[in-house]
Amino acid sequence: MERKWWKESVVYQIYPRSFKDSNGDGIGDLQGIISKLDYLKTLGVDVVWLCPVYKSPNDDNGYDISNYQDIMDEFGTIADWEILLQGLHDRGMKLIMDLVVNHSSDEHAWFAESRKSKDNPYRDYYIWRPGEDGHEPNDWGSFFSGSAWKYDEGTDEYFLHLFSTKQPDLNWENEKVRREVYDMMTWWLDKGIDGFRMDVINLISKVPGLPSVSEEVGEGRSFRFGGEYFVNGPRVHEYLQEMNREVLSKYDIMTVGEAVEVTPGDAALYVGEDRGELNMVFHFELMGVDSGPGGKWDCKPWSLKDIKDIISKWQIHLNGKGWNSLYLNNHDQPRMLSRFGNDTAYHRESGKMLATLLHTLQGTPYIYQGEEIGMTNVKFASISDYKDIEIINMHEEYLAAGHAEEAIMNSVYIKGRDNGRTPMQWSSEPQAGFTTGTPWLAVNPNYTEINVENALADPDSIFHYYKRLIELRKEHDIIVYGDYKILAGEHEQVFAYQRALGSERLLVILNFFGEPASFEVPAEALAHEPELLITNYEAEKDTDLRSLKLHPYEARVYKFTV
Ligand code: NOJ
Repeated sequence: MERKWWKESVVYQIYPRSFKDSNGDGIGDLQGIISKLDYLKTLGVDVVWLCPVYKSPNDDNGYDISNYQDIMDEFGTIADWEILLQGLHDRGMKLIMDLVVNHSSDEHAWFAESRKSKDNPYRDYYIWRPGEDGHEPNDWGSFFSGSAWKYDEGTDEYFLHLFSTKQPDLNWENEKVRREVYDMMTWWLDKGIDGFRMDVINLISKVPGLPSVSEEVGEGRSFRFGGEYFVNGPRVHEYLQEMNREVLSKYDIMTVGEAVEVTPGDAALYVGEDRGELNMVFHFELMGVDSGPGGKWDCKPWSLKDIKDIISKWQIHLNGKGWNSLYLNNHDQPRMLSRFGNDTAYHRESGKMLATLLHTLQGTPYIYQGEEIGMTNVKFASISDYKDIEIINMHEEYLAAGHAEEAIMNSVYIKGRDNGRTPMQWSSEPQAGFTTGTPWLAVNPNYTEINVENALADPDSIFHYYKRLIELRKEHDIIVYGDYKILAGEHEQVFAYQRALGSERLLVILNFFGEPASFEVPAEALAHEPELLITNYEAEKDTDLRSLKLHPYEARVYKFTV
């Protein structure tokens, strides 16, 4: 497999609104990030992925962009952004920007023009259709509840919005739209950025005719997930290959596309090294491991078997063909420690165990801000404490459909996106040292204990364990490039796997639960002298690897040569 800097990198994701506020308005900003660059350098990450900082009315916290080539007032100015880029580069780190081009904001100048008249030159920048007997043009539902269409009186037509009503979908069939996007990307690349994270990039091509999912028509019909008509649509690969030819291939950059509902087979078409499209995708299979048939809000417990199966499938399928991205949380997901670990009794142990998983698989690990200090989910008392449009719309829709308030709030506690968006916990000072004002979203009350100041001071903290994992990647090629093979796949408590590169082997053993576990290290590994690279417990001397006794959430990584 070809060696690339982005395969050997660890990425740190910043959600600017919640990272660090420098001016007391309660909203994180670019100067705040700049003030924390040394912190990122201490952690040892190579790349920062900056969630959208562009001009935006913030219906979806910056994922609704009204000007792609300017900075949101709350976050600062282009001059601040230049300082940020320089500050990262000076410290040997890179910057990738979020590219949100499935849709823009309805306050973008293109949309303002587009809605004016049916013959406006910008009309076809978006997807407009007449109603069907006074109803929406089809039955597609929005990801944020309700119909995916909004009626616009001015021209008596509907526009498509797969996300909020303020996020109209761009019409990628229109060559002019594609040209605008490529020019805008080039403008940022020429400023020196190192790549893009592409928002819902596998939704940009829609099936012509925009067919309905069901036969139901008229008043009262339900809106459904129309994925078959826009997930991996008919022209998506053509568009990405064009984008690659026109823009990406001209720079030494990294690209990662958010791709909903993709299988490893679909993903190989996006990231295949001979395909000329993207470097990596974020898939959602693992993020669906605790959802029932009713989707995201239909919460069910995850099983270790499913986690193993999904990870193994992706590791094996992409090996030698394309590259995996490794993440367990981000700004759209609950905190991984609360979801897959134990955020009370085994906070430290389970946080480190999950980190070991992410940093010892084949692929590029992504750390979401606060993950490195073990930030957890939050439980605010009332729906009015929540700010996320997805949560608010779902709450309203589910209440109207007769669900109990308590059940709805329970699902928000488990899956709501604001779990991952509470302000970064810098210290035990008021508001976690995030702001001197009132934060836009309340801080998690556990900041008095879980915070960066404490983490830095404690050599045994989750933070220092991440730092060591990042160093290990730099010291051992096998962690980056080795092939993957599951061990004892049927074990109910332990996730163990082996990586192989040339004559080297890496053995990873993870107890996924709060009870002790036994594990028999395979004979192949026993014949040699394994070196313990890292563990989240005091390393015990004279451990008998033939019958390993693992503590709750214990993680061990050994290396040996055959
Ligand atoms: C995925 C982004 O990560 C999410 O935050 C956003 O709401 C949707 N795409 C729409 O842009």
